[in-house]
Amino acid sequence: MKYIVTSALPYANGKLHVGHVAGAYLPADIFVRYLRLMGEDVIYICGTDEHGTPISISADKEGVSPKEVVQRYHDSIKAAFDGIGIEFDNFSGTARNEHHILAQQFFTDLYQNQHIKAKSTLQFYCEHDKRYLPDRYVEGTCPKCGATGARGDQCDKCGQIYDTTTLVDPLCKICGNTPIIRETKHWFIHLDRFTDQLKEWISHKSYWKENVRNFMLNLLEQGLIERSITRDLSWGVPVPLPEAEGKVLYVWFDAPIGYISSTVEWAKQIGKPELWKEYWMDPQTQLIHFIGKDNIIFHALIWPAMLMGQNTRYVLPHDIPANEFMNLEGDKISTSRNWAIWVDEFVHDFDGEYLRYYLAANAPEKQDADFSFKDFQQRINGELNNVLGNLANRVFAFAGKQFDGEIKPVALDEMSQSYWSEAQALLIDIKASYQDYQVKRNTRSIMDIARLGNRYFDERKPWMAIKTDPEHVKQTLWLCAKLLSEISVALYPILPKHMQRLRGMMGLKPISRWDDGILEQNLRLVDVSPLFRKIEDSEIEVQLNKLHAMAKAPEAKSYDPLKAQISYDDFSKLDLRLVRILEAKAVPKTDKLMQLKVDLGFETRDLVAGIAQSYKASELVGKTVTMLVNLEPRKIRGIVSNGMILAAHSEGRISLVCPEGGEPGSTVQ
Ligand code: MF3
Ligand code: ZN
Repeated sequence: MKYIVTSALPYANGKLHVGHVAGAYLPADIFVRYLRLMGEDVIYICGTDEHGTPISISADKEGVSPKEVVQRYHDSIKAAFDGIGIEFDNFSGTARNEHHILAQQFFTDLYQNQHIKAKSTLQFYCEHDKRYLPDRYVEGTCPKCGATGARGDQCDKCGQIYDTTTLVDPLCKICGNTPIIRETKHWFIHLDRFTDQLKEWISHKSYWKENVRNFMLNLLEQGLIERSITRDLSWGVPVPLPEAEGKVLYVWFDAPIGYISSTVEWAKQIGKPELWKEYWMDPQTQLIHFIGKDNIIFHALIWPAMLMGQNTRYVLPHDIPANEFMNLEGDKISTSRNWAIWVDEFVHDFDGEYLRYYLAANAPEKQDADFSFKDFQQRINGELNNVLGNLANRVFAFAGKQFDGEIKPVALDEMSQSYWSEAQALLIDIKASYQDYQVKRNTRSIMDIARLGNRYFDERKPWMAIKTDPEHVKQTLWLCAKLLSEISVALYPILPKHMQRLRGMMGLKPISRWDDGILEQNLRLVDVSPLFRKIEDSEIEVQLNKLHAMAKAPEAKSYDPLKAQISYDDFSKLDLRLVRILEAKAVPKTDKLMQLKVDLGFETRDLVAGIAQSYKASELVGKTVTMLVNLEPRKIRGIVSNGMILAAHSEGRISLVCPEGGEPGSTVQ
């Protein structure tokens, strides 16, 4: 059986941060390394996602071509992966020619099979820039949740998708003007045509992670609709139709095809250009997509539908392990606020494998996790150093001192046997958990084997036994060496470099198979040195200070400056009363003013208030509000205004100060 393992193609629009790594890359890399240990035939495929409006917006801003932006981030992301030992068989990019050709083929097949149809739609258009404003080219307020900074068709805050023309207060991202709405033609994939096939397909996926399966079942229940898969842009894969001049494929349409085009590139590079087909066209292949939870809809719904609509019979995803998010020091990671740990900077200060260990031990598998520097330090010092490093250290030091670095196979007594079987049980569980992507559980189980080794060593007291019973000591060392050898293999998918080093110190050949963990031969230790190093408090302080110093404050709300102090006397001059609004009507030819008649209990007054933009006349009648009643009368638009209604002003919105109870005429102090 063959495996294709993929990780979501990262956008070539920014550096790699720990949140990315924890969600889609490290778990996949670990899984692939595990499969290789099991002797499986697996390729690990990735590349950068090089289209989409954020990339062209960045390019516009910098005054360079999108190609330049893409190349820069492709290289930076690749280097970051190298720094933490994420090893792809191929790392391609979607702006490459081969990818464009394949993406167009995907469109053509779907089009000819009538899964794609054109439709005239309404789009934002900037008259100043003379262009349509797809996706991130327009920003406004989310019509679903009211969050600001929402983009054309999706809100980052609530994640909901909406019709682009329902966006509230839209603004052009390029010039800041308000766009108009204009008609334009777009092509839509009719997902509803795949409903039955998708239902059938998903009915065999009972082994999927609950978050992904439920998400899908929910979507299917709601009913599938058509989705636009083209955009009015110049950067992207041109739509392969003569009447689609100036249109490109939507980035989410072309991106997943990158999994295939990257495999095609891989086959070419290794000199077997047809080999990719043996993976993608074999129905037995297990295609496994590692992603973050925000990508579920594209991988579990749209992508399979795209595959189903091809004339070529590609394999469908076997599994889609989607991870939750990684927060940072209790707050959501935000690249715009620079609240992130950038991989390239991190590996400058710490061993990249320390990051692998921490992210594995703290993986956001079933729920969001939090990256905390103190916790990171605790894991590295308290687990890697004090548990595993300590076991290796004391065993090697003892063997070095007493037996010249030699450890030999000997028979195990009952007590040693019982430790050994405990370790065996953990090893069986570890294997199963790797198969099940349970990396977090495995870091714990592996540390448990090391803890067990330490307990055994303590109980055997070799430092005492050596005086009376050297055979007893030899046995102790032998079992500890066996445990270390098993650990080296079990932990290899997570810490490949360190575990090879551990093997090296034990004089063993490098790990290539799971069974390499089984130790039967004589050992001669070589170049023993500490496996890990401790992280000092001061290092953590430096990191925390840097993190906070680099973070941009969230956009500050502006408040009016405080006015000069007044005396009690000044205040007591104000006559504030509750009044009830009897009548209200908008002042003609103004959009802010409202004429009111109010009841003070003992008399009525007429006045004009600037509240028409926030209240309708009908809403006002009957309301009890607060009013300054001894303000000198003033003529506004020919109407004598006899008093002032109190209202709160915040960000353009006016709210009347309405007390909960109280009769008209009551004084307010
Ligand atoms: N670039 C997308 C993201 O970072 C992921 C694309 S995954 C692919 O969210 F399948 F479309 F390639
Ligand atoms: Zn504009």
